[in-house]
Amino acid sequence: MSEPFDAVDVIKAKRDGGRLSEAQIDWVIDAYTRGVVAEEQMAALAMAVFWRGLEPAELARWTLAMLNSGERLDFSGLGRPTADKHSTGGVGDKITLPLGPLVASCGVAVPQLSGRGLGHTGGTLDKLESIPGWRAALTNQEMRRQLADVGAVICQAGSGLAPADRKLYALRDVTGTVDCIPLIASSIMSKKIAEGTAALVLDVKCGSGAFMRDFDSAHELARTMVGIGAAHGVATTALITDMSTPLGLTAGNALEVRESVEVLAGGGPKDVVDLTLALAREMLASAGVEADPADNLANGKAMDVWRRMIAAQGGDPAAELPWAKHTHDVVAEASGTLARLDALQVGVAAWRLGAGRARKEDPVQAGAGVVMHAKPGDQVSAGQPLMTLHTDTPDRFERALEALDGAWTISQEPFEASPVVLDRVA
Ligand code: URA
Repeated sequence: MSEPFDAVDVIKAKRDGGRLSEAQIDWVIDAYTRGVVAEEQMAALAMAVFWRGLEPAELARWTLAMLNSGERLDFSGLGRPTADKHSTGGVGDKITLPLGPLVASCGVAVPQLSGRGLGHTGGTLDKLESIPGWRAALTNQEMRRQLADVGAVICQAGSGLAPADRKLYALRDVTGTVDCIPLIASSIMSKKIAEGTAALVLDVKCGSGAFMRDFDSAHELARTMVGIGAAHGVATTALITDMSTPLGLTAGNALEVRESVEVLAGGGPKDVVDLTLALAREMLASAGVEADPADNLANGKAMDVWRRMIAAQGGDPAAELPWAKHTHDVVAEASGTLARLDALQVGVAAWRLGAGRARKEDPVQAGAGVVMHAKPGDQVSAGQPLMTLHTDTPDRFERALEALDGAWTISQEPFEASPVVLDRVA
């Protein structure tokens, strides 16, 4: 079959700052998914988009073409509203774990398709796989059944969902084209719209541990994604949240599951609880349900859904979670107020300890990671442990400690930590 366009013409049009037509966009995404547009051609086009951007109409079409590259799930017949959350990713970001069961316990079904970690940010599936027996892969039928029975599911996206993004994301990862607002926005939104949720809340992270380092670019990404959601009939809002320091007191798979269970039991670190509740309130409001989610953390209803959700996917919610074999304390060199603890550096340390992977096929260590004993704003004393590093392979401590070099500041001045939620975009 002859092709209606030539990839080189499409690349040159964008390279020279032109606007791509709907037909060109439809074709290039489809032809890339079919393998007709070569990887190096798509890499060149992604780089051209990186520099030249996409106009709003081009971005809308690009997202639609990615969405149309695969199947679209439909949960409209469940008998209760659906809502989902997507985070742009950060260090210690375990919020999906308590949030899904919490929102489900308030009567809204939560179909969460999640990913694995690559680089310094952790992946929700890696975290849940530290629970003995838990499995990430569900068929569409199993997902629907669990949503109807339990109300919450967190599983791996099937290969039929936005396959264009699967290919393009892997290509962007190795061609320096990940941190590009139109490409991030179309990647995230094509998958979330394909997932079939009626309402969506975005957690757009901003700070050293996030894709978006500064507030203005986080705001622009949030506005772009909210606009795409609205154009596709998905009620979408976004919170811009702080990722200059890790969320909570743990970064690492089993360590983060333990902290999430503490939140579900009515405890846990304040920033994790605050963000879980803020996102839950957004999801419930978008789904049109009036309830105070804080009640269900206190009364055990969210914990009950968590246990049923884990068990439905083969996991044992009562099982002892793995601990790493070796630990190493990092101590404060002075007394004062912890004024800074850098998210990126803690994330890289956790990754080097074995919590993350360098290549897609690498295994992760369930028990590895970093436990923090103080957060910005806390008083610390010289000699007190600031962090404990956990790993099964002690030869990793040295590289993790290198990553932490200069990661914190202890100040003699009073310091007040900023709130976790910085802004809301609707
Ligand atoms: N997450 C995604 O799914 N896609 C991106 O492009 C960036 C983060």
